[in-house]
Amino acid sequence: MWKSVAAAPADSILGLTEAFRNDGNPSKVNLGVGVYMDDTGTTPILNCVKDAERIMLGVENSKSYLPISGDPEYGRQVQRLIFGAGSEVISSDRAATAHSPGGTGALRIGGELIKRFRPQATTWVSSPTWANHQGIFTAAGFPIKQYPYYNSETKGLRFDELLSALRSIPAGDVVLLHACCHNPSGVDPDGNQWREIAAIAESQGWLPFLDFAYQGLGAGIEEDRRAVTEFAARGVDFFVASSFSKNFGLYNERAGAITVISPNSREKDVALSHLKSTVRVCYSNPPAHGGLIVKTILSEPTLEATWRQELAAMCGRIVEMRRALVDGLAARGISQDFSYITRQRGMFSFSGLTDETVAWLRENRAVYVVGGGRINVAGLTSANIDYVCDSIAEALA
Ligand SMILES: Cc1ncc(COP(=O)(O)O)c(C=O)c1O
Repeated sequence: MWKSVAAAPADSILGLTEAFRNDGNPSKVNLGVGVYMDDTGTTPILNCVKDAERIMLGVENSKSYLPISGDPEYGRQVQRLIFGAGSEVISSDRAATAHSPGGTGALRIGGELIKRFRPQATTWVSSPTWANHQGIFTAAGFPIKQYPYYNSETKGLRFDELLSALRSIPAGDVVLLHACCHNPSGVDPDGNQWREIAAIAESQGWLPFLDFAYQGLGAGIEEDRRAVTEFAARGVDFFVASSFSKNFGLYNERAGAITVISPNSREKDVALSHLKSTVRVCYSNPPAHGGLIVKTILSEPTLEATWRQELAAMCGRIVEMRRALVDGLAARGISQDFSYITRQRGMFSFSGLTDETVAWLRENRAVYVVGGGRINVAGLTSANIDYVCDSIAEALA
């Protein structure tokens, strides 16, 4: 079967991790991988997760299938998290949530569902975007186009160009937006800018699809939902793909959710029926363990309080490392202004390092950065920050 078939290309970021693993340099630093690391360089299991698992061990009495869209209480808790407890979307009962295997599963199920009813649609993604967006929506059958987003000269948003592109996207097309902590740039629209974007979605009639993979890792749980709130206020159809890989540290549990928001409860019921039939033919019903952890934490106020503290600590460490990097580079007399790194949000940053510098850092200092200069700020620790700053200073000298 495979004799005359060429091998598929390796995933570029996972390939980098493999090369890092095989690197014998004891000073090596991995700023490429997309997982949170604490100051000891490990990806921890949160205390709230361990506590939830202890509770689960005592009460779980069956491994029977979950419903197709998952445990209804999980759906309720996820909606409280993404919309806020007092949200009109919840009181009007106009959102349907299905538990998905991670954020990737949520994006793919959402894509499959939309494809059934919008077979002619194009999916628009930001330039640049997380590499897998293109793959997921291509696999779901969509042609892909890009809208302008990041300006590498100003290190900010190309806001005017973004708006004019969004004004020319036809009704019915899908527009994929990063709800917060844009990956890879770390640059997000502010609240007023989201309001303008949502107004265009309403007047143009394109379908917003919010990828919400980093809630709580930007400015906080409440602040990070401003994009969701703006689209909700318009009463339009839209989709939200949640991932709990980063904010609950549940990477290998594959916990996520796809939420379909409709203008009213009746249309939501129709959407839910098709969401379920889409899930049924993809993976039938979701894996339970990770979702049960999230549900247990969000249903128990003391566990939720612990989670909020632990999430705030992760977010705070990232902000601290952004500052340490910028200060460390300035202290080494580098003339290039890196202060924009402190204005970016979330785990990732477009460092402004060229591909040439990225290659030099890897070959000469075993500092691993993704091509294009994206760094995972959470890969910086108090033990490696000086080494990284020295290495970048040397590379730029
Ligand atoms: C922007 C974005 N969306 C979605 C995901 C998918 O997350 P998950 O690991 O939960 O599938 C990621 C993970 O890196 C991401 O960066």
